[in-house]
Amino acid sequence: MTYAPTIVAAAALALSAGVAAAQDLARGEALFEPCKSCHSLDPAKQGMAGPHLAGLKGRVVGSAEGFDYSPAFKAARAKRIIWDEARLNAYLADPDAMFKGGWMSPQGLDDEADRAAVTAFLMRGR
Ligand code: HEC
Repeated sequence: MTYAPTIVAAAALALSAGVAAAQDLARGEALFEPCKSCHSLDPAKQGMAGPHLAGLKGRVVGSAEGFDYSPAFKAARAKRIIWDEARLNAYLADPDAMFKGGWMSPQGLDDEADRAAVTAFLMRGR
């Protein structure tokens, strides 16, 4: 049996899109390495310098249980502000611009592609 070329091309395209997404995730995970000195991805792991970042997608800002956030983050939590792709990307571009006086010391990721990859990794829905 022969497949119509368009179907083969569409399948190849879908496959390469999937590969590209997986590569982005892998890149995001690698770029997240330095963040791990302050952030765990395990909700049971407490006591680091920063809150755990497990299940960040859809999470209320400043809501990791047991972490004592800055007043800026507590105010955001009171307003029930939610982490989504756009918010996380903007936060990582300039943390202090979003939450003035926040305690996260690294000043964000300047490179747009790096930011997108880390955002995709943290928003992967796990
Ligand atoms: C030196 C420690 C440190 C490093 C490194 C660090 N962070 Fe943070 N991060 C913090 C602290 C502390 C907070 C809490 C901020 C506050 O309370 O003002 C925070 C907060 C966050 C939040 C908000 C979490 C929530 O519960 O609402 C996200 C998202 C985040 N960091 C992502 C990152 C990413 C991505 C990186 C790596 C590019 C990173 N951080 C590197 C210390 C760090």
